[in-house]
Amino acid sequence: MTYHRPHNLQQACELAARSGARVVAGGTDLMVRVEKGFEEPQFWVDISHLPLDEVRHDPDRQVLEVGALCTMARCATHAKILQHAPLLAQAAVVVGAPGIRNRATIGGNLANASPAADVSCALMALNAELVITSGHGSRTLPIAEFFLGPGRSALAHGELLTMVRLPLRVPEHTVRTLSHWFKAGNRRAQVISMVAFAGRTFLDGDDRVLGSALAVASVAPRPLRLSHVESMLLDAHLTPDVIAKAASAAASEITPISDVRASAEYRRHLTSIFTQWHLEDVEQGSAPPAGRQAPPEPPAPREVGVTGEGPWELRINGRAVCVKAPGSRRLLDVLREDLHLTGTKNGCGEGECGACMVLVDGRPVNACLVPLGSVAGHDLTTVEGLSAGDSPGPVQQAFIDAGAVQCGFCIPGCEVTAQALVELEEPLSREEIAQALSGNLCRCTGYVKIIDAVALALSRRAESRKGGRS
Ligand SMILES: Cc1cc2nc3c(=O)[nH]c(=O)nc-3n(C[C@H](O)[C@H](O)[C@H](O)COP(=O)(O)OP(=O)(O)OC[C@H]3O[C@@H](n4cnc5c(N)ncnc54)[C@H](O)[C@@H]3O)c2cc1C
Ligand code: FES
Ligand code: FES
Repeated sequence: MTYHRPHNLQQACELAARSGARVVAGGTDLMVRVEKGFEEPQFWVDISHLPLDEVRHDPDRQVLEVGALCTMARCATHAKILQHAPLLAQAAVVVGAPGIRNRATIGGNLANASPAADVSCALMALNAELVITSGHGSRTLPIAEFFLGPGRSALAHGELLTMVRLPLRVPEHTVRTLSHWFKAGNRRAQVISMVAFAGRTFLDGDDRVLGSALAVASVAPRPLRLSHVESMLLDAHLTPDVIAKAASAAASEITPISDVRASAEYRRHLTSIFTQWHLEDVEQGSAPPAGRQAPPEPPAPREVGVTGEGPWELRINGRAVCVKAPGSRRLLDVLREDLHLTGTKNGCGEGECGACMVLVDGRPVNACLVPLGSVAGHDLTTVEGLSAGDSPGPVQQAFIDAGAVQCGFCIPGCEVTAQALVELEEPLSREEIAQALSGNLCRCTGYVKIIDAVALALSRRAESRKGGRS
């Protein structure tokens, strides 16, 4: 098994074209497949470090260009995305939980070609064009031609998705744009959509529909545009009768299946309801979400010249560490088995429980989904790094004082997430703390004391900063 970190895009294309090559970006889909034994790549091409996460607004061409390696966390908070393509930000912010969003990329969401992919659904409604690059040059493909079926896309072996281009031009005479994102799942976080809906409707000064783009996911073998409904709405006024007919037509235009998440009937019902909500919501308009400000950019990782079996140089808990192991090895296993940092726990192994949470450049990520080679040159913090010598560090002390040390399996991961919040030095409401902890599961007691502990750690940190200033 070999693991490569190409130096640039050209080399990445060359390596990706080799027989048996498998591209890995954030790894949040691929590592789960490997863990479940669905595949065993022999030749890994890690592109996660390539500079393909730029977001550029070009007012002359009226496009927003988003690099394929843009993570969900970045999409959800980037000022230009919030301003020009709020649907993308709204879809990105509900992908998984913070640890997943810090790694998962939009290119991976598209290339994985899941019928339930949230961001792919939003990009369908945004009429995205996909820039695909290989050793033979680049081509651009409308997103409508990209998805071929579950897990199948128009990407040929050796091709990389490098950029998503969003046209910003709206139909002539547009006075108002309504834009909504709805997702139904069985939980509030870490959940695959039962139905996802992304809609944009353009109205003239007379409230007449000049055009609409309605996309749905998890209701057909691939993310889908409701083209029949779109043509029904053209030139219409959104009267209750028009809306009712459109909502009913939406349910007929999809081909859902019944599975563990929802029945086909319920998916039809949700699609109908979401279409209705979107069209009825003329009052609210298309205000972008009041997204939080983007956290500071992590420092650029140090240049890593190695590949394959390493040795990989990392900084863990402030100390330089050199690891000789295959680059595709799970970071979780390296921490526990090679470095004996056993505070990082092996729970689900699929990014669901948060027991394996570590900080990479200050951001929580699930170590079970991270290939070792992709964090070479980065700064890592494990729960061992939160202590103050032999004593608990401030976050750990807050957990003790709040009575939140519930079990040794989940609490280390909760403390690691809490440490990231404390380092941001922003006041957070209990609801925001709960959101930030949505990737850390507890199966025994509940979250009240854990949230108390994080709130206590935040207030102590704020106090100590005030004290330091006076
Ligand atoms: C716990 C959990 C929760 C999740 N929740 C959601 C959710 O709510 N909504 C949702 O939509 N998804 C969800 N996902 C799925 C996943 O996080 C997303 O699909 C993510 O965007 C994949 O991106 P990645 O960079 O991690 O892809 P990777 O795992 O690195 O790659 C996925 C596939 O795409 C290919 N690939 C990646 N990048 C490129 C590229 N630039 N060019 C060509 N091929 C490429 C890889 O070869 C691989 O086949 C979840 C996953 C987990 C584990
Ligand atoms: S999230 Fe990694 S072990 Fe559960
Ligand atoms: S804290 Fe571990 S199960 Fe509740």
